[in-house]
Amino acid sequence: MSAPSGIHVSVFQDLASLSRAAAGRFLDVLRERVPARGRFAVALSGGSTPRTFYSLLASDPYRKEVDWTKVHVFWADERCVPPDDRESNYRLVFETLLSAVPVPAENIHRVQGEAQPIEAARLYEEDLRSFFGVGRMPVFDVVILGAGRDGHTASLFPGAAALRERTRLAVPVYLDAPQLNRVTLTLPVLNHAAHVLVLASGEAKADVVRVIFEEGNAKQYPAGLVRPVSGALEWFLDRDAASLVRSGALMRS
Ligand code: 6PG
Repeated sequence: MSAPSGIHVSVFQDLASLSRAAAGRFLDVLRERVPARGRFAVALSGGSTPRTFYSLLASDPYRKEVDWTKVHVFWADERCVPPDDRESNYRLVFETLLSAVPVPAENIHRVQGEAQPIEAARLYEEDLRSFFGVGRMPVFDVVILGAGRDGHTASLFPGAAALRERTRLAVPVYLDAPQLNRVTLTLPVLNHAAHVLVLASGEAKADVVRVIFEEGNAKQYPAGLVRPVSGALEWFLDRDAASLVRSGALMRS
């Protein structure tokens, strides 16, 4: 048995090697797409897993290999908190990456987490439409996602109404404290991306990974609903995250 068709899965020893591989892939995609487009639009996630990946991109050799003036940074999701809050995904990306690379300020498209969720989603959608063009689905060059132990991705949680959204690009998500309200990109946006890289590390993810890759039941979890219509989908797992998948079910690297 192999991973569901159209998904490329790689399993690494640990978070460090997973992050190096993801940074290498990011660079490959950037080199492939910038010459024709003149710009590179990325949507980044929060959580603990991508920290090492962001820090790697902010350090050599990756940092100097990228023309950061061409990179436009968006977020896959954000918590409704001010940008300097410890829970802010903007803050996470700023501290680990943006503070160390020359991305022009006008290329940074943060979600206004300090606004009310409806307003923050509206403003973010307006920014997305003005950047990608009104009336068409955004095509991100790369979207970086994670997977929660409950199977969520971005801020698309199991059973949420946001999962049924077909036309809006960004929607508010209301959660009970302490998880906080959020704004998330919707599935149609994620699924129009040219490349989606999902980073999952640790034993806590093992059951979700098993269901998505082994049981043919991927759609049970929001993370399994990310299947780009014509783009590429790559999962980067560490051994712990892949530990419940029978050997042979995933291609190892
Ligand atoms: C966030 C996310 C979220 C995250 C997963 C995995 O802001 O929390 O964007 O979807 O990617 O919860 O988080 P970990 O990397 O911490 O496991």
